[in-house]
Amino acid sequence: MKGIILAGGMGKRLYPLTKVTNKHLLPVYNKPMIYYPIECLVKAGITDILLVAGGKNAGDFLRLLGNGADFGLKHINFAYQEGEGGIADALKLAEYFAAGDKICVILGDNIIQGNIISVVEEYEKQESGAMILLKEVEYPQRFGVPVFDEDGKIAGIEEKPENPSSKYAVTGIYFYDSRVFEIIKTLKPSDRGELEITDVNNRYLEWNELEYRFLSGWWTDAGTFSSLKAAGNLVAETGANNVS
Ligand code: DAU
Repeated sequence: MKGIILAGGMGKRLYPLTKVTNKHLLPVYNKPMIYYPIECLVKAGITDILLVAGGKNAGDFLRLLGNGADFGLKHINFAYQEGEGGIADALKLAEYFAAGDKICVILGDNIIQGNIISVVEEYEKQESGAMILLKEVEYPQRFGVPVFDEDGKIAGIEEKPENPSSKYAVTGIYFYDSRVFEIIKTLKPSDRGELEITDVNNRYLEWNELEYRFLSGWWTDAGTFSSLKAAGNLVAETGANNVS
């Protein structure tokens, strides 16, 4: 399985911290934010990695990460997203790299306490379709939120609903087969002008090919002042990407 880290976008919610640098290069406790999703993939055994960067400071990723020696890697692939057309817009740049293989996608501002290796192994065995990871959160309205039917199956996913119908967030760790790129080509920009990853997941759902699991350990994004602070505190308390 190949890994794709999406680190495009302008990080506007963290302005002025992001005035002269990229959000994913900001510190989270003792490391730059981007270290955590890279470690997440590597510790799950995914070492063939593409990083999609964006914005004005994309060259800084190369200076920081080089060929990935800090992570035990010999090589990291890079791509550049023009503008900030959304998560699915950034992901579409990975089609050539994926070359028909299954992929694990992680957002560059997502940090987890544990290790996703068991889910990676499970998804390897899943014949086709997609898998998402859910986590109970205090403010689901900030995220993609699953709507469950009476049988506990996901009936739909709503992006940042005002009145969330469950207490779960769709985390920024996604597993897709190669059809994801065909789906992205059919997407239309949302009201916020982005190609939404939630629309991708809802398409798999329409096909009845969206699996989900609950993520264990803490999960946070780091894209707002409060979540950036919380992420630093969580990492300081327990560390991130722990093996067990
Ligand atoms: O963190 C999980 C949430 O991420 C999900 O629950 C939501 O369904 C999903 O839409 C997303 O929500 P956000 O609005 O918080 O995403 P944000 O715009 O902050 O982007 C998250 C990361 O995605 C960002 O750190 C880098 C990448 N990204 C984002 C955009 C808009 C790109 O690579 N390119 C982009 O154009």
